[in-house]
Amino acid sequence: MAFAGSGKIWMNGSLVNWADARIHIASHVIHYGSGVFEGARCYATPKGSACFRLDAHIERLVNSAKIYRMDTPYTRASLEDAVLATIRANQFKACYIRPIVYRGYETLGVNPFPCPVDIAILSWEWGKYLGDDALEKGVDVKVSSWTRMAPNTLPSLAKSSANYANSALIKMEAISDGYAEGVALDAFGYVSEGSGENIFLVRNGVIYTPPLTASILPGITRDSVITLARDLGYRVREEMVPRELLYIADEVFFAGTAVEITPIRSVDKQQVGNGRRGPVTEALQRAFFDVINGDVPDTHGWLTYVYPAEAVLREPAKAVAGKGR
Ligand SMILES: Cc1ncc(COP(=O)(O)O)c(C=O)c1O
Repeated sequence: MAFAGSGKIWMNGSLVNWADARIHIASHVIHYGSGVFEGARCYATPKGSACFRLDAHIERLVNSAKIYRMDTPYTRASLEDAVLATIRANQFKACYIRPIVYRGYETLGVNPFPCPVDIAILSWEWGKYLGDDALEKGVDVKVSSWTRMAPNTLPSLAKSSANYANSALIKMEAISDGYAEGVALDAFGYVSEGSGENIFLVRNGVIYTPPLTASILPGITRDSVITLARDLGYRVREEMVPRELLYIADEVFFAGTAVEITPIRSVDKQQVGNGRRGPVTEALQRAFFDVINGDVPDTHGWLTYVYPAEAVLREPAKAVAGKGR
């Protein structure tokens, strides 16, 4: 199904119709991947629609742009406002949010400096990334034959469009081989992350996740899981994870904006634990969903409400536009 976008897109300060949000084929970003972007979510809570950790996503966007020497005239606060304005313009109750900062149309040399730094913010209604059952039943994954970017090649702390060429190779291999997702190792053979999500494992009651030095994106869901796990009294260790620890873990799960917290039930056809969602994964899912559903007080200040409470909104559509596989 073609991507069923609709509504308005914010482009360089103006809201334009989805169909009119075009850029020229000679834009630098198309040829050289010179874009940095974000993926955030807005959830429908009983108190109204709320973006989850919008400030952290905008901070990472600005950091990604800084790594790639892209100066923008927008402050973090004005970018947050632009995201909220885009959601309001579309009257979404719950949606996925995609801000992108990119090198636009000027020259086609590799040097990006002459090209303008343009910004767009898209939003759309997006369902469960790895399928409706995944949150409960878990997914089957393989360790990818593709390695994540080596240090000092493409910076993994930047959420750069260029990095997703690597993610696409991981994802295509996994799907072609019959798996939901691939897990990539870093250049030294340690576990890094999935094509679009961070990874955690649980062994003997302790939670492990690869550190930032394992070529991972510093995930905002990862940070939230670490915080919630410590709130719940678990020990969390950020340390290098040998591949074989995945096979002998009690539980393994992904964390990311798209997948939220998704259990992994097998790795390379080896069953993880008893092949079902484990108790720690379930406890963390519950803690996470309680926050994003507004069922518990937002003690960490993670929610940014979008509308005044009285706004009349339409329900999220059932269609899963742009589903990622
Ligand atoms: C490669 C990669 N790792 C990890 C993540 C998870 O990051 P976050 O929790 O901020 O969505 C993502 C998703 O953006 C990703 O693309």
